[in-house]
Amino acid sequence: MRKKLVVGNWKMHGSRASNALLLSGLKEAGPWTADVAVCVPFPYITETALALTGTQIAYGSQDCSAHEQGAYTGEVSSAMLADVGCRYAIVGHSERRAYHQESDQLVADKAKAALAHGITPIVCVGETLAEREAGQTEHVVKRQLAAVIHTLTHCIGEIVLAYEPVWAIGTGLTATPEQAQAVHAVLRQQLRAATQKADAMRILYGGSVKADNAAQLFAQADIDGGLIGGAALKAADFSAICRAA
Ligand code: G3H
Repeated sequence: MRKKLVVGNWKMHGSRASNALLLSGLKEAGPWTADVAVCVPFPYITETALALTGTQIAYGSQDCSAHEQGAYTGEVSSAMLADVGCRYAIVGHSERRAYHQESDQLVADKAKAALAHGITPIVCVGETLAEREAGQTEHVVKRQLAAVIHTLTHCIGEIVLAYEPVWAIGTGLTATPEQAQAVHAVLRQQLRAATQKADAMRILYGGSVKADNAAQLFAQADIDGGLIGGAALKAADFSAICRAA
């Protein structure tokens, strides 16, 4: 039985004051049966770490560099993230693929860099609305995952995978539990062909998950929790989603 995981992706939201309120609200609301984590903007990682000391809530980043170190202005390495205690790093979020032209291979290299420093990459895959309408969903997510499988080879079992249909992100249009499960099953099958650990791996769903649709999504056979955007910014909403997992 896989333990559910719920991850809040704060994206580029927050301030020291609002983060402190959110984190104290979460501390009061927990504990939960599921594993819970928050992925916060880089400048707030250290304060988040301090605020979460002694709680069950893990923390991580929303990206990491594919490079080890060096003259890469603006990049943050996995070594640095490990140094400040990150357990997770989101890589390949569709917003980075779209706005920063991140390729499948770059995403795979970032996942490899994270693992090299003991950080679990949360690798995001997902199709756009145009790709879904063109019947390309399976092809797109399998291509995105294949690059990661090829690059990580025997370490692929160490990642967390997140299916996030681009058309469902921040739009209020959630994939139905059946739509999401169908893609998760495809991804699980692809992982089975690559690693014996496939059935122990967590595949999260992301895209307009809310307190009132979380339980149905998380009840699906291959949905092992969620990657939550907007609803992770309010302690009561995020906590309710964690409770549903
Ligand atoms: O990483 C989180 C996803 O992009 C989902 O965002 O819950 O605001 O749709 P959302």
